[in-house]
Amino acid sequence: MAMKCLVLNGPNLSRLDLREKNYYGEITYQDIEEAINKEAATLQIEAEIRQSNDESEIISWLHEAADNKIPIIFNPAAFTHYSYAIRDAVVMLKAPCIEVHLSNPLSREEFRHTSVISGVVDGTIAGFGLDSYRLALRALQQLVK
Ligand code: DQA
Repeated sequence: MAMKCLVLNGPNLSRLDLREKNYYGEITYQDIEEAINKEAATLQIEAEIRQSNDESEIISWLHEAADNKIPIIFNPAAFTHYSYAIRDAVVMLKAPCIEVHLSNPLSREEFRHTSVISGVVDGTIAGFGLDSYRLALRALQQLVK
């Protein structure tokens, strides 16, 4: 049976084409969706991809994942650095959760050096662009096995 997972993306990731080219290159949100869909098909994973700029909506999705024991790949975007509410929701998850970032936040501004999420997920993959998502799908599959 195909593993199901949710891929959750936080604020401003839908507008990558307008963001810092030195960190995100030419990657668009559509590229993220395509890369995930392609890799998921290869790995026979059923991945549902969502994006929101709204903290409350993301928290509701995490509650839904907790209630249904759904594994998560999560790019919390800027919420990574300060949302204790999202961290508290991640703590309640019952299936594995992998944090991903396109860029490497540790090589950017100092406020990005803190992740309030990293300490409550199974692992973090950062700095590999679209490959961060592809690697996360592989890692998640191993964790769920
Ligand atoms: C990001 C890194 C965050 O610091 C930033 O706020 C983002 C994207 C990344 O994928 O590299 O919006 O999560």
